Amino acid sequence: MKLLLKNGHVVSSFNKLEGDLDVLIEDNVIKQVAENIEADADQVIDCAGLAVIPGICDMHVHFRDPGQTHKEDIITGSEAAAAGGVTAVACMPNTDPVADDPEVIRYIINKAKDAKIKVYPVGAITKGLKGDELCDFKALKAAGAVAVSDDGRPVRNAHTMGRAMIDAHYAGLKVISHCEDLDIIRGGIINAGVVSIALGVQGMSRTSENIITAREIQLANDLEVPIHIAHVSTKEVVDLLRFATKRGVMVTSETAPHYFTLTEDRLFTRDADYRMNPPLRTEEDMKAISAAVMDGTIDCIVTDHAPHTAEEKADFLKAPNGVVGLETSLAATLTKFYHTKQMKLIQIVRMMCENPRLILGLEGGLIKSGAVADIAIVDLNKEWLVEPERLHSKSKNTCFKGMMFKGKVKYTIVNGKIVFEDKD
Ligand code: DOR
Ligand code: ZN
Repeated sequence: MKLLLKNGHVVSSFNKLEGDLDVLIEDNVIKQVAENIEADADQVIDCAGLAVIPGICDMHVHFRDPGQTHKEDIITGSEAAAAGGVTAVACMPNTDPVADDPEVIRYIINKAKDAKIKVYPVGAITKGLKGDELCDFKALKAAGAVAVSDDGRPVRNAHTMGRAMIDAHYAGLKVISHCEDLDIIRGGIINAGVVSIALGVQGMSRTSENIITAREIQLANDLEVPIHIAHVSTKEVVDLLRFATKRGVMVTSETAPHYFTLTEDRLFTRDADYRMNPPLRTEEDMKAISAAVMDGTIDCIVTDHAPHTAEEKADFLKAPNGVVGLETSLAATLTKFYHTKQMKLIQIVRMMCENPRLILGLEGGLIKSGAVADIAIVDLNKEWLVEPERLHSKSKNTCFKGMMFKGKVKYTIVNGKIVFEDKD
């Protein structure tokens, strides 16, 4: 099978490629990237006026499979991903049962064989995410885990976290840390500040995230092992990351579009679709996160795609934290940074396509002859309204509902096959 992408604006950060070019794909591999390719292709896609970028790798999603497949499963989560130009995801282990055992990792890998995109499991750091007994990282790695995390929960004890960072490093796995101090949080549900006071609800102090991030950075420094910081949301963490990177600490990090697009003011609506963990914070935090994305202090843009049912989200105080994001992440990022001329497309490609794969050691993330043919074709200028009921995800809890974004995925290609086409 030969697929020819004609006249697209090809952008690939890893090999610093940018230009109006054709891309010839044969089976699952990119065969040639050049001007005016003459080939006898089975299918030709006219990409004039469209951007051709490597498929996005979202290294932080929750697919709820096994255990809560009424919210999402590996198949529907992958459909949502494909619609967002995402060709690979790393899915977090807070499933039921928890992915703390090679058998659960194998279940995910096996089910993902029928999925439209590449689904890589993240194993747990501790058994049952309880923060006590470390998992067998070598066994998780051998079963196919690409990282370890207790995401959704912190590892409470610093000694345990340090041990995990050393053991995981020697097993060839990155540790992804959910930085939260539950002793400080004490049941808070939104950012602690003017909005939580006005609404009369328990706040989540920023100190919780700041203090555990500082701990993880210090552990990485002292033990000389890497750490990846999940979903950065505060300005103080941005300062910590800048300081640590300057000192040569092996720290990488990610944030999500809601942290650079929205603030805690949304919570005045008392709508739990604006509740996630960490929470939406202040204008100053949003500005600091945006600056850190633009200057590369933060390495990756992820979604923390966290599907929950409408019934659960109906109760503002009791609803679980989390928002879906796979179908809006690229559009939100383009709208915020590209269309305001604050970032070039190649920088966005680096943060969404290249860096997550480098951090996890995954294939792909570039457009080059010989590379795997995982590609997103994007209409950068198409404006669209986020309508929750039109999302492919089983759950519709998006915090971007009713917003207009500029930039829409037209085709998604995985292993040389078209897995999504926007027919609008
Ligand atoms: O908002 C969140 N939802 N944050 C997390 O850390 C966990 C996630 C979930 O699993 O729903
Ligand atoms: Zn998460």
